[in-house]
Amino acid sequence: MFEYTAPNNLLQDKIILVTGAGSGIGRTAALNFARHGATVILLGRTTSKLEEVYDEIEENGWPQAAIYPMNLAGASEQDYANLAETLDKEFGRLDGLLHNAGLLGELKAIAQYDLDKWNEVMLVNVTAPFLLSREVLPLLRKAKSGSIAFTSSSVGHQGRAHWGAYSISKFATEGLMQVMADEEDGLSQVRVNTINPGGTRTAMRASAYPGEDPMSRPTPEDIMPLYLYLMGDDSQSVSGKAFHAQLPGNPENIATL
Ligand SMILES: NC(=O)c1ccc[n+]([C@@H]2O[C@H](COP(=O)([O-])OP(=O)(O)OC[C@H]3O[C@@H](n4cnc5c(N)ncnc54)[C@H](OP(=O)(O)O)[C@@H]3O)[C@@H](O)[C@H]2O)c1
Repeated sequence: MFEYTAPNNLLQDKIILVTGAGSGIGRTAALNFARHGATVILLGRTTSKLEEVYDEIEENGWPQAAIYPMNLAGASEQDYANLAETLDKEFGRLDGLLHNAGLLGELKAIAQYDLDKWNEVMLVNVTAPFLLSREVLPLLRKAKSGSIAFTSSSVGHQGRAHWGAYSISKFATEGLMQVMADEEDGLSQVRVNTINPGGTRTAMRASAYPGEDPMSRPTPEDIMPLYLYLMGDDSQSVSGKAFHAQLPGNPENIATL
């Protein structure tokens, strides 16, 4: 695991947007960000799930969250512009953006891969993070040290048979991160990195590996040190890097990651 111990107030006064915040890794990340002092904007497609996260944050007395229901598969350019405008009005800046929502699509060979499925996976995993990043970039630039973390995968580093659009979308995610990190370098304080969570105990993992014992995988909570590190100021000068949440590493040793 990536080794990092976050101080309790690591994210105090930070405004962080999390996509896919209603379940899986995104839910756990949103709760952890709030527990460390952040005001979290919970974005996702299922309002009832977002409300549960909102309630849990409130019950714990952490900074009040905000809910922003949005289906990334159906959102228009104007929807993203409206989101950015709302954030600007409410907060005037954005300190962190965790692109976490993702779609597995179907596990099939390219020879059999369905075009509609392909388009849907690309829309949710690549086009949505592109549009969201583009629209909120001005708000991230207004923060003292804005952080964008994209969510990648092992199959975004090494292609694997039958992982189809998902694998290719994660390669594109790595590319988007590298292009944006290079563009912001010297231009703004915004840093841009990717996280590969590694096999983690969630609904997505269970549908990709139905025969696997879920207890053999780490929980979303186990992989949080890297998520906290990348949203907090200890990673302020780190950009353009691909992180692996479950591989050994620590902030002092970033160059070797
Ligand atoms: N778990 C793993 O082993 C693993 C490994 C490598 C990478 N990852 C990546 O980690 C991220 C989180 O995965 P997970 O395992 O937590 O998956 P998950 O349990 O399936 O959760 C995915 C999240 O994305 C949301 N989402 C999906 N389609 C959406 C859409 N059209 N609009 C808005 N939100 C949408 C889901 O919302 P609903 O709950 O409303 O459906 C859910 O909150 C993904 O990017 C995934 O590719 C996971």
